[in-house]
Amino acid sequence: MGKDKLKKWEENKSFAHVFEPNLLPIIKEGKTFMKGEWRSKFYKNENPLVVELGCGKGEYTVGIAQRELNKNFLGVDVKGHRFHKGAKDSLASGLINVAFLRARIEFIEAFFAENELDEIWLTFSDPMPNDHDGNRRITSGYFMKRYAKLLKSGGIVHIKHDNPGIYERALIEIPQMGGEVVLHDSNIYESGFLANVPSELKEVLEIRTYYEQMWLNEGRKIKYIQAVMPLKK
Ligand SMILES: C[S@@+](CC[C@H](N)C(=O)[O-])C[C@H]1O[C@@H](n2cnc3c(N)ncnc32)[C@H](O)[C@@H]1O
Repeated sequence: MGKDKLKKWEENKSFAHVFEPNLLPIIKEGKTFMKGEWRSKFYKNENPLVVELGCGKGEYTVGIAQRELNKNFLGVDVKGHRFHKGAKDSLASGLINVAFLRARIEFIEAFFAENELDEIWLTFSDPMPNDHDGNRRITSGYFMKRYAKLLKSGGIVHIKHDNPGIYERALIEIPQMGGEVVLHDSNIYESGFLANVPSELKEVLEIRTYYEQMWLNEGRKIKYIQAVMPLKK
């Protein structure tokens, strides 16, 4: 075990905005954690709740939270030593609308109630090319159906990725599950796309995550999808 990881895990325990529940009772016994209680117990307001799933170092969570102080942000990742950076950065910036949760997306319903979320960001999620059923690929139609229940009626999902397979499959699978793709582009920095979106979205899309920077250095093209989940009756 690297000393650096241990230090980050130890430091995470001291942060009031980092939640690292024991995952065993959640996985084995169906226990829940903070489900339906994020606003009342942590943020102490009724503002929209935006989550980044597989947030890594939390660049999107912190980056958007700085620009949109009237929304609550939660970065979720199974690796606490990764979001330790976002936890430290948000603390250093004095942000009170940011938190991080160590969890597995496979058990997402243990952490959020129906209609609790307003937006979901999926940034450079693991591509899982051999996951044909989509039950490990967190951008799949299978996961979109589950997210739709947790999102308010007409909630938004954002996908930012370098992988053409992820992009193309999401463009097929989102309409199949009843969602509507409202914006999409396969090469956002070079196609002129950013010049035609509202300036707030342009600014947010220009945030570069750790993985994004790696893929950009290799010359990969960055893609974006914005989808509205099915309206609830
Ligand atoms: C390729 S990285 C992208 C990280 C970050 N979004 C970025 O753009 O730099 C994928 C992240 O998703 C996390 N992850 C993958 N599968 C997960 C799962 N099932 N539940 C929670 N986190 C997961 C990994 O730990 C990793 O930090």
